[in-house]
Amino acid sequence: MVNDTESIRTKEKRLNQLAQEITRLDRSPLYQYRKKNDYKPVFGEGNPDADIMFIGEAPGVKEAETGRPFVGRAGQYLNSLLSSIDLKRADVYITNIVKDRPPSNRNPHAAEIDIYAPFLCKQINIIQPKVIATLGRFATAFIIDLFHLPQAGKKIGEIHGVIMHTPTDFGKVYIIPMYHPAAVFYNRNLAGFLEKDFYTLKLLC
Ligand code: URA
Repeated sequence: MVNDTESIRTKEKRLNQLAQEITRLDRSPLYQYRKKNDYKPVFGEGNPDADIMFIGEAPGVKEAETGRPFVGRAGQYLNSLLSSIDLKRADVYITNIVKDRPPSNRNPHAAEIDIYAPFLCKQINIIQPKVIATLGRFATAFIIDLFHLPQAGKKIGEIHGVIMHTPTDFGKVYIIPMYHPAAVFYNRNLAGFLEKDFYTLKLLC
């Protein structure tokens, strides 16, 4: 028990150190935009010892104003999907590939993904989740490439809800790609898929 508590504290401490590095990341192409708008970097939040880690794309305006991931409209929907499988935000860990808001919520550029990727990899290695749920095509493509999965190049429409797995230094990790919650605002028909994929996620835990 003491050991568990200590290892969670160590994880928390290592995550905090990483978050501070991102705060000082002035070589990021998004750093000046952050400063100019008085935005905050959005590192990630939740249980440092979570079994489930959600990875989204990049912060939107609400996230950049608060420094917290998924607190806008997509976040409200994510919260309701979590409660549909009896989970709370505090049970899981939620982060993004890109840790600063891209202007006008445009898609992240490759250079932006590249600069924040090592931080995401470190977050994964610290938290050591059993399941990674990727939200949307950017996070899905990133994780598929990272672990050299055979689904490389497949569209999110083909692989959402498909359970993949990979060996890692800390054991087997399941990966489940999902539509991004915000995609449902543009196409209501995707809601049923997302709800079903959350149910699949529940069965994995
Ligand atoms: N969309 C994302 O991908 N991440 C957030 O944190 C908010 C919206």
